[in-house]
Amino acid sequence: MSWIDIGALDDIPQRGARVIKTQVGCVALFRTGDDQVFAVSDTCPHKGGPLSEGIVHGHKVTCPLHNWVFSLETGEAQGADSGSIPTYPVQVEAGRILLDATTLAKRSAA
Ligand code: FES
Repeated sequence: MSWIDIGALDDIPQRGARVIKTQVGCVALFRTGDDQVFAVSDTCPHKGGPLSEGIVHGHKVTCPLHNWVFSLETGEAQGADSGSIPTYPVQVEAGRILLDATTLAKRSAA
């Protein structure tokens, strides 16, 4: 893995999100209420809603358009809805958010 620094944890409010543009499209970074960070595709598989504008609850996000709920850990839709969003390896070190550049490059090549 090759980790790239994409910003400070404090740049994202708790239960908030930030979007970064990558080779695989827009990736949404979510900070949960317990200060964990998750990186997933910003695009809802239902009708393309911007998940970064959704509501974060626990380790899940609710799409702002039609309320589908996705696990930020696995990317799987919850409940009766089916589908999933890609998730990306991310870690926080000394207050900085690091994203794995190798995974992003590999997915775009596939
Ligand atoms: S676009 Fe996300 S639930 Fe419909």
